[in-house]
Amino acid sequence: MSARRLAVLLGPRRSGVPAYTWLADSIRQLVADGRLLHGTRLPSERELLGQLQLSRTTVTRAYGVLRDRGYARAVRGSGTVVQVPGGPVAGGGEPLELASLQPVGADVVDLTCAAPAAPPGLNRAYAWAVERMPSFIAAAGYFPLGVPELREAIAQRYADRGVPTDPDQIIVTTGALAGLAAVYRALLSRAEPAVVESPSYPNSVRALAHSGARVVPAPLVSDDLEGLSGVIRRSSARMMLAMPDFHNPTGHVWSDDERARVAAMWRAGGVTGVVDETMIDTWLDEPIEARPMAAYAPGCVTVGSAAKTFWAGLRIGWVRAPHALVGAIARARLTMDLGAPVLEQLAVARLMDTQGGLSEESRQRLRASRRVLLELADRCPGWQAETPTGGLSLWWHLPSERSSALVAAAERRGVLLAPGSLFAVDGRGLERWIRTPYALDEVSLQRAVGGIADAWADVTAPSHFAVKN
Ligand SMILES: Cc1ncc(COP(=O)(O)O)c(C=O)c1O
Repeated sequence: MSARRLAVLLGPRRSGVPAYTWLADSIRQLVADGRLLHGTRLPSERELLGQLQLSRTTVTRAYGVLRDRGYARAVRGSGTVVQVPGGPVAGGGEPLELASLQPVGADVVDLTCAAPAAPPGLNRAYAWAVERMPSFIAAAGYFPLGVPELREAIAQRYADRGVPTDPDQIIVTTGALAGLAAVYRALLSRAEPAVVESPSYPNSVRALAHSGARVVPAPLVSDDLEGLSGVIRRSSARMMLAMPDFHNPTGHVWSDDERARVAAMWRAGGVTGVVDETMIDTWLDEPIEARPMAAYAPGCVTVGSAAKTFWAGLRIGWVRAPHALVGAIARARLTMDLGAPVLEQLAVARLMDTQGGLSEESRQRLRASRRVLLELADRCPGWQAETPTGGLSLWWHLPSERSSALVAAAERRGVLLAPGSLFAVDGRGLERWIRTPYALDEVSLQRAVGGIADAWADVTAPSHFAVKN
């Protein structure tokens, strides 16, 4: 990281404490916030003192404090490198979905899962699909690339968004995650570096790691484009997983300018962008204006899903790839399964035809639920979240590093949460962050707000500090 960029992240100097304390504390906070990632090289002492107008003793002392506390280490030939105390966990974060593999008791509010309720009209779409089945039953039933009418409907959606698409470029999969896994399997060789913004959706990152790739965390595009560019360059990665539309968990949307700049980085580095658009239809205030990444980076591969737009139980997703990559991805997919169920594909084709995207009813429900969860800002002193214009979660910045403690305390009060660290690409840190999905109904969320506020009071009570420290 350049001295100039670090100076921007540090902000103005805090008065009332020695300069070295301010510098060491501020860098520590940036590590805890996930803005300075494990492994980032800090600027040399000379560069930083020039940028911040501090004395050499101050910078040397601050770096010394960081090393003593486990937030940095000296690496021969690389200077001082940031580290998360304890280092990254091998194998990445915990599987988010495992929490919901167990049945959850009726008195527990499960906020580990961010999927909206099924829309009205779902049963009618299934009934329509059943009516349509005889034409398909007449054939053998294998459609490894997808049934033609769904491939056409998906291609048409891209064309409507300004990216002309041939149905031959579409491969229907059993959900976006299966689509991502097929893309990784087709395009990556073992130990090849692949860049991912941190935080990110943990299951996609785990799938990447399991494909044998070396997962390289990068800063969020909306936080530090320059930092991302450096990571791509240094890692020599040939793939980047991106979530430009309501990033999970932060809810960020890349602007036109950010899309163009990331596309330029991909072009310059020979990087294939893998764009996860699972959340794209979950806009609550207004649709995303920016064009799809494929308009900026024609060589990218896009993955989509019916799970957040219609219903997760449909288990239908898709891959949109440049013609040249379709064959390799289709072959990789055939090592996993031989196609998605025909009935579900027909139901999704029908929903795309009749509803287009998320229903207005679902949107209203989600807006109301978002309002309820935003009350956490009043109930929990110091909690801050941007109000996302879409997606399904609030990403809270906590005033202290207590995300995991909060998760444990909330569970005792009947609310299941996923800690910030689960979304960290290397599985550690982000103790100042917590994700709270607003996909559940208002009543459940009101209970959740009460439970979370009480749990936060538990973990920040002076007696808790006494026990912990
Ligand atoms: C960003 C993101 N990508 C992919 C998935 C997985 O999608 P699917 O259920 O279609 O496999 C999810 C599910 O939550 C997600 O949030």
